[in-house]
Amino acid sequence: MSIVVLASGGGSNFQALLDDPVIAAKLSALVCNRPGAGCLQRAADAGLECALVNHQDYDGRANFERALMQEIDRYQPTLLVLAGFMRILEAPFVNHYAGRMLNIHPSLLPKYKGLNTHQRAIDAGDCAAGVSVHLVTAELDGGPVIGQRQVPIEPDDSAQALASRVLVAEHQLYPAVIRAVLSGDLVFAGGGPTFKGQPI
Ligand code: GRF
Repeated sequence: MSIVVLASGGGSNFQALLDDPVIAAKLSALVCNRPGAGCLQRAADAGLECALVNHQDYDGRANFERALMQEIDRYQPTLLVLAGFMRILEAPFVNHYAGRMLNIHPSLLPKYKGLNTHQRAIDAGDCAAGVSVHLVTAELDGGPVIGQRQVPIEPDDSAQALASRVLVAEHQLYPAVIRAVLSGDLVFAGGGPTFKGQPI
């Protein structure tokens, strides 16, 4: 089992994977698209291979994604984990990793696909927000949901305060999903998740 992580930002979700010894043992590399992103330093600190594929160096999304695929495929991943990867991915890329690419999204999908999820949940008057891990398909944040964690929205919550609480849940959910894949309790067959053990 070889896991490659894609990230663009601070990398706290990536760190949660590094901090789990079972998962860390299977991590092959971090691939990042943003120079200077905090996730690169986290990989360096952990002694994990990392590569930078800067989208600004490429003319058009297709060329960027081709370079990204080339870099990722050097590690022959059985699982590709998007952990705060902030680029939209097009069909050729998504199809290449179909059934083995996961994403974490800070909302209770199918609610609030896309950006500004916390503010949208507050504005809608929801009493709960949360996080979802899902398989990636060509529809943005639209693939089959694997697991979710709910977080209460407090009266007078700010988007920032809510995001911090959701992030704590993210750091629990993503490792739990990936551990289930590693143990064989969760498999992806026929385009969706099948739980052989407890649902997550
Ligand atoms: C997380 O909230 C994740 O759900 C979203 O982007 C954020 C990344 O945070 N897609 P980090 O870089 O893992 O700290």
